[in-house]
This record gives sequence, C-alpha cells and structure tokens, in this order.
Amino acid sequence: MARLKYYGHACWSLQQGNTNVLIDPFLSDNPWTKGIPTDLRPTAIFLTHGHSDHLGDAIAIAKQSGAPVLAMVELADYCQEQGAKSIDGNFGGVVKFDFGWAKFVPAWHSSTWAPPGGALRSTTPNGFVIRFFDQTFYHAGDTGLFYDMKLIGEINPIDVALLPIGGHYTMGVEDAVRAVELLTPKLVIPMHYSTWPPIEQDPEEFKRLVESKTAAKCVVVKPGAEWDVPANL
Ligand code: NI
Ligand code: MN
Repeated sequence: MARLKYYGHACWSLQQGNTNVLIDPFLSDNPWTKGIPTDLRPTAIFLTHGHSDHLGDAIAIAKQSGAPVLAMVELADYCQEQGAKSIDGNFGGVVKFDFGWAKFVPAWHSSTWAPPGGALRSTTPNGFVIRFFDQTFYHAGDTGLFYDMKLIGEINPIDVALLPIGGHYTMGVEDAVRAVELLTPKLVIPMHYSTWPPIEQDPEEFKRLVESKTAAKCVVVKPGAEWDVPANL
C-alpha cells in the first residue's frame, strides 16, 4: 500500500516498501517543517520547477542520500552542476523507474531562480503523472487552471491528484474545483495553501465544493501527517 506523507506546501513523499519518492523538498525554510526532517530516506527526488519553495533543499538531500533528482532538462543540469545526480526530461517524456514511471506534463507558471552568487537560471515548470506500483498519481506543481488538464486525465486515468489551491501564485479554490472536473481523478488532495498569508485558504471549503460538484472524493492531509492510500479508491 502506498503511503503519502505531507511536509506542507508542495512537498510530499510517496512511499511503498523501500521506495520513497520525495517531491519538491522545500523543508529548511518551510514554515510547516522548520528544518529538514532527519528521517528522510528518498530513493528519488522529483522537482516541478526551480522556485525556491520547490527546489528547496533538493541538492543537499540528493547529495546526502545519493538519490537522483528528476527534473526538466535545464533544472536537472543545474542540479548536476551543483553535485547532485540527476535525470533530465521534458514534456511528453516518460521516465521509467523500478516502481513504474513518471511523465512530464505541462503546468502554467514561471520558473526563474537565482543561484547563490550566480546568474539567473530558468526552466519551464511542469507537473508529473506518476505511476507508482499499481496506482496513478498527479502532482500538478504550481499551475493555473488550463483546459488540457482534461487530456492529462483522459490519457492516464488518475487515482490521486495533488492540486494547489492557495491562489495568488497558483489556481485558487474555485479554479481548482474546475481542475477536478477536467481531470476526473478518483480522489483529490489540496496543497500549496496557508504557508504564508497571501495563499491562506480553507481546505475544508475546497473539500465541500469538490464533493458537491464532482464525483471525486477529497481528503485533506494536514502538514506533517501521513495518509495510507487505500487499494480501492
Ligand atoms: Ni512557483
Ligand atoms: Mn510555489
């Protein structure tokens, strides 16, 4: 059974057995975690873009654990230059892993970052569809609503969608409910909210709207909590 652990913001781990995929490890500056947990054992690290609240501590954790970083080619190259192992990819690409695969899908956002003392770098942000053993997950990254979400859900029926609801920098609650209508996942979990005042949102309001307007279930996983994904959703 897969277990999702939420570190707050857009940071999750997806675990089963010894496999542990850590996504967008924003930890040392994350108000929800206040530091890098000592029990992280990632076997792979996935990044959706280069903003500091997503790239976060990825390079340090990759170097310490030996886990490769999967990211868009420009960001993967940057991680490699910084001494991390990396796997690059780009839209439409499917990268195979022992547990299944990860596919790069679009996200409507920006992604320029400033390395310490270096010139500005940029890449195109992405989301991931992740086949993790026998279930399919979608981590939307940071994105506004876009109609091609319908195509993402049609090509790979989604069991669990992780969607930003914070607004201001990403879609907010109302657009995220529209995203659920387009994606048609079996279950949705909100993320990227209430880390800072501009993205304050009530996840219970999102849950109420999802469950009244769509066929999806919604589970609110609190920062710091774990949730075992049922085999039959
Ligand atoms: Ni961002
Ligand atoms: Mn963000």
